[in-house]
This record gives sequence, C-alpha cells and structure tokens, in this order.
Amino acid sequence: MVRAYKVKGEKRKKKGENYDKEEEIEVPLEEEESTKRVKTEHSEADTEAAERVVDLLSGIPVVATDQTNKPGVVFIIERASLEIAKIGKTYQLLNSDEHSNFLKKNGRNPSDYRPDIAHQAMLSILDSRVNKAGRLKALYVRTEKGVLFEVKPHVRIPRTFKRFSGIMLQLLQKLSITAVGKREKLLRVIKNPVTQYLPIDCRKIGFSHSSEKLVDIQDYVNGVNNDMNLVFVVGAMAHGKIDKDYVEDYLSISDYPLSAAYCISMITNAMERKWKIL
Ligand SMILES: C[S@@+](CC[C@H](N)C(=O)[O-])C[C@H]1O[C@@H](n2cnc3c(N)ncnc32)[C@H](O)[C@@H]1O
Repeated sequence: MVRAYKVKGEKRKKKGENYDKEEEIEVPLEEEESTKRVKTEHSEADTEAAERVVDLLSGIPVVATDQTNKPGVVFIIERASLEIAKIGKTYQLLNSDEHSNFLKKNGRNPSDYRPDIAHQAMLSILDSRVNKAGRLKALYVRTEKGVLFEVKPHVRIPRTFKRFSGIMLQLLQKLSITAVGKREKLLRVIKNPVTQYLPIDCRKIGFSHSSEKLVDIQDYVNGVNNDMNLVFVVGAMAHGKIDKDYVEDYLSISDYPLSAAYCISMITNAMERKWKIL
C-alpha cells in the first residue's frame, strides 16, 4: 500500500475531536521560543518550500508490520542532533557538512551537528526484523534541545539524507506529519517526559561505551523474563554520553566505541535470536 505524507499542524481542530494535542505540547523554553519565532517569521517562501517537500514525499509508503500482543521493545534515541535555523531565506536542518560557516559564525562547534547519526539510528530500528515482526512497540526520539517526538513503527523514514532533512524540518516546524487521507500521525512532537509513555512492566536499559558493566548482549537479553517489555536507550550525539535518571541499568556491549546504528543492530539481532525471529 502506498500512502503519501502530509504536513499538518496549523489547521484548526474540528469541534469535539481530541486526537490532536498540538495545543497542549510543552517544549523546553529554548525550543518553545524558537518554535514561536518560526511561526511568526513563516513566510510565503517557507510555505512553498514546505509544499515542495510534501510533493517530494508523495508516494512514500508505510510498511506493513505484523500485529501482535506479545511483549516487545521500545527504543528511545537520546540527544539527537536535530535543530533547525533560518539560513538566508529558508529554514534548514543544521548539519556539519553544509552549515559549517554558519555554525562557526554563531559560535557553535560544527562537529556537534550530526543529524545523520539519528537518521541512521532510526533506519536501523525501523528496518529490523523486530519491527517487521510487530515487536517494536514504540520509537521515541529526543533532541539535544529537549524536543521529544514519536515515530510510528510502520513509518518508512526517507532513506536519503536530503529527504530525511525535509521531514525533520517539517516535523520541528509543524509538530506533526500525517498520512494523507488519514487521521493518524506518523510522526508527532509530544510532551516530555518520555517515561509517561512507557509500558508499566518494563526494564529501561541504557547503552554506553563507558559503562563498567560490559556484557554479551545476547546472554543479557536471554536472561530477561520472556514477559518483560524492554526499553533500550541509545545516544545519537557526536560526542559525550547519555546520562538519564530513568535508566535502570547502563550496559557496555563491546570493548569498542560503536556507532549508534551498529549498537542498535546488535541489540535488535540479540532480540531476534531470543525470540527466534528469522
Ligand atoms: C555516542 S553515539 C556515537 C555516535 C557515533 N559517532 C556515530 O556516528 O554513531 C553512539 C551511541 O551508541 C551506544 N554505544 C556506542 N558504543 C557502545 C558500546 N561499546 N557499548 C554500549 N553502547 C554503545 C551509546 O548509546 C552511544 O551513545
């Protein structure tokens, strides 16, 4: 089935319809201010650019995944470098390749701006057999600025970076992206904290190369009760580590520092073997 994306966000809600919660979205002050600025400065040129992105996205399919009530996994990508800025006349997703001069002029370190890490991490999760088998319950991404958004497991995120940037730009400006002709929001900004959306009976596991608890991820997940939902927290920043209060256990799963995408692939492979998903 082929469905196109459509950008939503500024339309008024129908009376009595409570699915959309844009009005209630709370974002940290810094991001709230930038969102306001985006809205007030939103020009015709920006609207045209947005429409071009929507056209570009027409025909991107959502993926059919198996439906199951079995326990599953939730992924949280923390510290994703996904930040937009107005450069010249248009808003763009900041990245070290294209915006090095702009970032330096604004006193920022270009090497911190790596949205490709979150892109690859998201693809690694959505492409996994865990997801195809319907065992990915949810995917949340939290940006370095604290904006939290949900990605529906059956969304097919653009594989090229340019198109991914277009989607992220629209999401961070409009706060949601909806499948054309459907009410379902495929991506949407939601309120912090992420813990309110997690299953009650879950174990929250963080991943860090610097953790002193070096484990074989296969042995670790094999040792977890089969009824338990697992929440995996992986960082998508260029430097540093994740340090979140809600994480119960920090694991290192290799002697080597891994990319976020490779780390995720190790986790999903281990779950696939545990659950015998071929
Ligand atoms: C900090 S980012 C590093 C980004 C990297 N430069 C890239 O291109 O993806 C990678 C994330 O993967 C996880 N990770 C990397 N190496 C790991 C290891 N040896 N054990 C556990 N988790 C690891 C951590 O969650 C970490 O935050």
